[in-house]
Amino acid sequence: MTVTANPRRTHLAALAEELPDVLATPLAGAAFGPGARSAVGADRDPRAWVREIADLTEPDSVVWCDGSAAEKQRLIDLMVDAGTLLPLDPELRPGSYLARSNPSDVARVESRTFICSQDEADAGPTNNWREPDVMRAELRGVFDGSMRGRTMYVVPFSMGPVGGPISQVGIQVTDSPYVVVSMGVMTRVGSDVLALIDAGAPFVPAVHSVGAPLVVDRPDGSVDLHEDVAWPCNDTKYIAHFPETREIWSYGSGYGGNALLGKKCFALRIASAMARDEGWLAEHMLLIRATSPEGRAYHLAAAFPSACGKTNLAMLQPTVPGWKVETIGDDIAWLRPGPDGTLRAINPEAGFFGVAPGTGIDTNPVAVATFARDTIFTNVALTDDGDVWWEGLTPEAPEHLIDWRGDDWTPADGAAGTPAAHPNSRFTVAAAQCPTIADTWEDPAGVPIDAIVFGGRRATNVPLVAQAYSWEHGVFMGATISSERTAAAEGALGELRRDPFAMLPFCGYNMADHWAHWLSVGAGLDPAKRPKIFQVNWFRKGADGSFLWPGFGENSRVVEWIAQQVDRSRGLRTDAGAVTSAVGLLPAEGALDVDGLDLPQGTLEALFEVDAASWLAETELTSEFFDTFGDRVPDQLWAQLARLRSRLGAE
Ligand code: GTP
Ligand code: SPV
Ligand code: MN
Repeated sequence: MTVTANPRRTHLAALAEELPDVLATPLAGAAFGPGARSAVGADRDPRAWVREIADLTEPDSVVWCDGSAAEKQRLIDLMVDAGTLLPLDPELRPGSYLARSNPSDVARVESRTFICSQDEADAGPTNNWREPDVMRAELRGVFDGSMRGRTMYVVPFSMGPVGGPISQVGIQVTDSPYVVVSMGVMTRVGSDVLALIDAGAPFVPAVHSVGAPLVVDRPDGSVDLHEDVAWPCNDTKYIAHFPETREIWSYGSGYGGNALLGKKCFALRIASAMARDEGWLAEHMLLIRATSPEGRAYHLAAAFPSACGKTNLAMLQPTVPGWKVETIGDDIAWLRPGPDGTLRAINPEAGFFGVAPGTGIDTNPVAVATFARDTIFTNVALTDDGDVWWEGLTPEAPEHLIDWRGDDWTPADGAAGTPAAHPNSRFTVAAAQCPTIADTWEDPAGVPIDAIVFGGRRATNVPLVAQAYSWEHGVFMGATISSERTAAAEGALGELRRDPFAMLPFCGYNMADHWAHWLSVGAGLDPAKRPKIFQVNWFRKGADGSFLWPGFGENSRVVEWIAQQVDRSRGLRTDAGAVTSAVGLLPAEGALDVDGLDLPQGTLEALFEVDAASWLAETELTSEFFDTFGDRVPDQLWAQLARLRSRLGAE
């Protein structure tokens, strides 16, 4: 439909009516000018900032969100009317909805993710760098009028318990109600957060637009009015970060880490830069508390790349008798040296945005119980009785489904290679719904970490578990993780890529500086309380291409060994737990509990085999990889590489 009047003025009038206090606030300075804000944004005025963004993006109205249940229901009803959310059967899946994204908007877009530090070297070779002023100009272009015809929601959120000493706050503005509701699950949204900001807490401003204005100017001065669609987005995408001014600008996508800006953008990319400056760590890590049959508790933080098993390990149901594992976080951890010399960690999130495919009663019954109700499912399949399904939820697919694109699907389609659910389909659910959530999961002071674990998806070479010889060796292990690509981001599946600290797409500054920062944080910890570092690999394959290790609940056997190694390091056990190998300490004969596991002959040997020739070849690649960072690689890591090569018998 075309109308001749330019409604721009009317929009602003509507805005003025709704938010007189906002418009009355004087502009705090140019939204994009250099020096408009202090280095950490402590003097940023939230209302002035919201007004700047509204002036730029020209929404029809601005709504300040309070995170209440009533507000959530209002937005859900609105989305059901718009076709964005499909209510699931209330008997089978109470309070739950299915969203189908645009098929072009299904995962993080790393090629359009930018780190805009003043100096290119501060972003480093693993990030897409853009000059901040150039990026600001580009963003000003795409955000200009990008919310016309839509509502702009203002979402004040806290990462971590509100007001906690390790927590941080932000404000996301977005024109997507799906994002508002998801942020309400994944973070702590509320007026209490706004009150903190009003009282002077520095906040991270995060601007998000799906980039699909409903009112578009035509060259002749008239405007086009567009019909809205169920999943608005734009083929042009920007996920831009300004680590020095702690700002996030995201355009064109409504999906996951592209759009829920508290998650990867804030809690990892921006927070990692804050952490570097302030002496803490922001990491792509799950957090668990494992309790032994003797009642001793161990806290583990584990970094695995996307879709490599964090949620599964976070919800582990131990098969080893007497052990208990409780969930604290499944994706991100903020770790801070505590006053007592321990490293303390919180989960900055409040929900799980978990991979659906492969999550089933047999593999992750805790997740299945968690999303039994009040869950938003995105890009999974719909059953004929109004429930959800995906590959791996049950062993057999139902006879008929509506697939993630909205098309009819039968198992024959599956056999022909068309999955019913998108491989990166996900569930969004409150962490509080998890039956194994630890009673300490919201402790603002965090939990003391005993062990840090690095992992990846490696069909070959990397043993089931190995312990680092020292903190430096552990940092070397983290720095040299490689993993086969998964569907969590765009790109060729299965391709082996370096993913140091599982942070390749998430480190907001130079990755080599991140390694140096880890060395320095470790050096500041009480050596007696410093976490022990391990590497694991659940994904090693045998000659026939199948996984050697049963994984999932059986991973508790590895957790048990890790806990026992922690005890040995503290003198609480005197039995021999480990033997040396070129790549690290491996479980001594009999130290890894495999009782009741029916492993075929030779499997354990294959799981722990260290092939010197393949490892030496890998060290060559590591050396090339380190070289890409030039002189920023800490000397200690080169020394670790030399020691590894010498242990492998290099000349
Ligand atoms: P992100 O949310 O993308 O960061 O992923 P994640 O690291 O939390 O991965 P998640 O636990 O969701 O697991 C991703 C996939 O790996 C699922 O299909 C799981 O079934 C599979 N997986 C997890 N643990 C294991 C394991 O021990 N063995 C095997 N073979 N597969 C596993
Ligand atoms: C990941 O890719 O590591 C995720 C999903 O946890 S997303 O939030 O989309 O980044
Ligand atoms: Mn993740």
